[in-house]
Amino acid sequence: MNLEKVQELREELENLKKIYKKGNSIIIPALWRVQEIYGYLSDEGLEILANELNTTKEKLLQVATFYHFFHTKPTGKYHIYICTNVSCMLNFAYEVVDELRNILKVNENEVTPDGMFSWEEIECIGLCDQPVAGFINMKRITNLNKDNIKDIIENPQNYAPEKTKIELI
Ligand code: FES
Repeated sequence: MNLEKVQELREELENLKKIYKKGNSIIIPALWRVQEIYGYLSDEGLEILANELNTTKEKLLQVATFYHFFHTKPTGKYHIYICTNVSCMLNFAYEVVDELRNILKVNENEVTPDGMFSWEEIECIGLCDQPVAGFINMKRITNLNKDNIKDIIENPQNYAPEKTKIELI
């Protein structure tokens, strides 16, 4: 058990309970907090959440796996999403994907041996006017091509913080 993370998660959940008081409205923001603290939806985090919300890990996973941005296994310190939907695909999204695969030498949702990177394809994220679009640690990145993706891999800190906390309302 990682006591530091457990403590942080419990504090976050107390704060969320003050904001999300009705029904199951707390589930998504609470899942985000688990992912932010552990880097993914860890067993430990889900167990705490299930106990706090009087539900089960299985039910939480049923919710989480409906959404693309939750991860049930660890990702790299920098996780890169590349949109391969129509507008981006027509603007050579698969060249970007191929370049990522070539440079990092890992397939989709695998983590590089140094723990730095992982990547995955996503559906349209509404940035079709700036293809190829994506995210790095939930920070949007646009106008990607097979050349500038190299710079992102070499200098990821210029594009996104290691850990991006989702602002909740
Ligand atoms: S098709 Fe890529 S952002 Fe819409």
